[in-house]
Amino acid sequence: MTIRPMQPGEAALLARIHAAAFPGGGWDEGFFRSAGESAADRVLVEGEPALGLVVVRFLGDEAEILTIAAGRRRQGTGSRLLTGAMAAAKASGAESLFLEVSVANKAALALYDRFGFERVGLRRRYYGNGEDAAVLRRSLSGGT
Ligand SMILES: CC(C)(COP(=O)(O)OP(=O)(O)OC[C@H]1O[C@@H](n2cnc3c(N)ncnc32)[C@H](O)[C@@H]1OP(=O)(O)O)[C@@H](O)C(=O)NCCC(=O)NCCS
Repeated sequence: MTIRPMQPGEAALLARIHAAAFPGGGWDEGFFRSAGESAADRVLVEGEPALGLVVVRFLGDEAEILTIAAGRRRQGTGSRLLTGAMAAAKASGAESLFLEVSVANKAALALYDRFGFERVGLRRRYYGNGEDAAVLRRSLSGGT
């Protein structure tokens, strides 16, 4: 299934997907509407209607994944979204792609490990529930 940019009018659906992926911590429709309109951010989705999303922020020679969520798991959606995010970041001129992930999020850590992300930092008690965040980096200077 192909990865495509978010379309105007999809913000509510993306907020529902995000809320399901992050119970009690989903980002609202307003966030996705703003991100979709922002020159600094790219919202990529899979499916029609959308089944998953990733939000990438461009920061010059760095880019950051703000969030990623798959509405159905272990069917390759996360991998395809991550591949799309890496390609978009590289196309923007970024040399590195960063993200934060809870050290307790085994699914996401396994996904990022598979894609060659390396741990470059640890933010203790970063999340509201007290979990630590690992800061991961993927170089984009080689092949994606
Ligand atoms: C993280 C997330 C996006 C992964 O999406 P996904 O579509 O399930 O991932 P994929 O199907 O592409 O999985 C790719 C690989 O990642 C690893 N992986 C994914 N989920 C895993 C799990 N629950 N346990 C162990 N490994 C896992 C596996 O190596 C998997 O390959 P395999 O299925 O062939 O074994 C998804 O679990 C999700 O939406 N989680 C909730 C939101 C979240 O935590 N986002 C990340 C915040 S930083």
